[in-house]
Amino acid sequence: MGYRHIPVMVEEVIDYLHCSPGKTYVDGTLGGGGHAEAILRAVVPDGWVIGIDRDPDAVACARESLRKFKPNIKIFHDNFTHLPQILSRASTRGVDGILLDLGVSLYQLGGSGRGFSFMRNEPLDMRMNPEDGKTAEAIVNELSEKELSDLMVRYGEERWAGRIARAIVRTRRQERIRSTLQLADIVKAAIPGKHRPRRINPATRTFQALRIAVNEELDGLKIFLEHAVDLLNPKGRLCVISFHSLEDRIVKRHFKALALGCECPAHIPVCVCGKKPRVRILTKRPVRPGAVEVTANPMARSAKLRAVERLGGEAL
Ligand SMILES: C[S@@+](CC[C@H](N)C(=O)[O-])C[C@H]1O[C@@H](n2cnc3c(N)ncnc32)[C@H](O)[C@@H]1O
Repeated sequence: MGYRHIPVMVEEVIDYLHCSPGKTYVDGTLGGGGHAEAILRAVVPDGWVIGIDRDPDAVACARESLRKFKPNIKIFHDNFTHLPQILSRASTRGVDGILLDLGVSLYQLGGSGRGFSFMRNEPLDMRMNPEDGKTAEAIVNELSEKELSDLMVRYGEERWAGRIARAIVRTRRQERIRSTLQLADIVKAAIPGKHRPRRINPATRTFQALRIAVNEELDGLKIFLEHAVDLLNPKGRLCVISFHSLEDRIVKRHFKALALGCECPAHIPVCVCGKKPRVRILTKRPVRPGAVEVTANPMARSAKLRAVERLGGEAL
């Protein structure tokens, strides 16, 4: 399968990023370049996009699909956690907006052959960057039962984590667990029949947990959020689209803290920490895709967009 992905909430992204000619944007999750193309159309002839993806296949696809915008885009095969260094390499100081569209692309799920989905039998890899980090196979076969169970609770909110971890350890004493379907079968058998979820595959939460662990997704998001606002010009905007509650919670809390500024405990009547609000929240509630979009692209159904605008001050 060639590279495929349908970008979600494109109009909303362009709106919230306030895209207009001459501005500079970062797309930290370039994928197939769908959002980047929409941003580029809005910023040409003299605006810029800096595109980043940790998946080399996404980078290759975006280079091709965005060829006609070559003078206006710089593409980096890297992790968005390295954004400050990437901006230095791109000789850019502040930017007018940053987009993160988290989660996996349709290509990664269905065409990468890296075991992101239980819908097809593939090696258990799950690395977005196949040159970096431990595979899901290594995690499944090497972590202790307790570590596996904790991982499924923390990153999958899996109610049956203990039973699934026990079943994994029992199986791997006989044979190494190498493939997606082998793991999906173990998970299904470990959940008592009458408690198996009906609307989703029983392995959904386990696969989500493994993917998050393999790619260190939540830690990466936190590291990124720590410095993203410093890289925005005054009135610059940060938009994050998340696809599950763990990510959305991190984004929501971080945005709230930035908008509040003060970190003094609630019982102290006057602020002593001196921290000022740094952003204005643009989305009181997360923005969701409309029914028409979800019908056309079911992958959009769980997407939530949150956005903030940087208050005055200099970009670092
Ligand atoms: C949902 S897709 C983005 C699709 C893209 N917006 C488009 O229009 O095609 C998410 C992409 O983010 C990339 N990604 C996830 N975490 C990343 C990280 N920490 N650094 C860089 N890229 C990352 C994935 O490899 C994947 O290609």
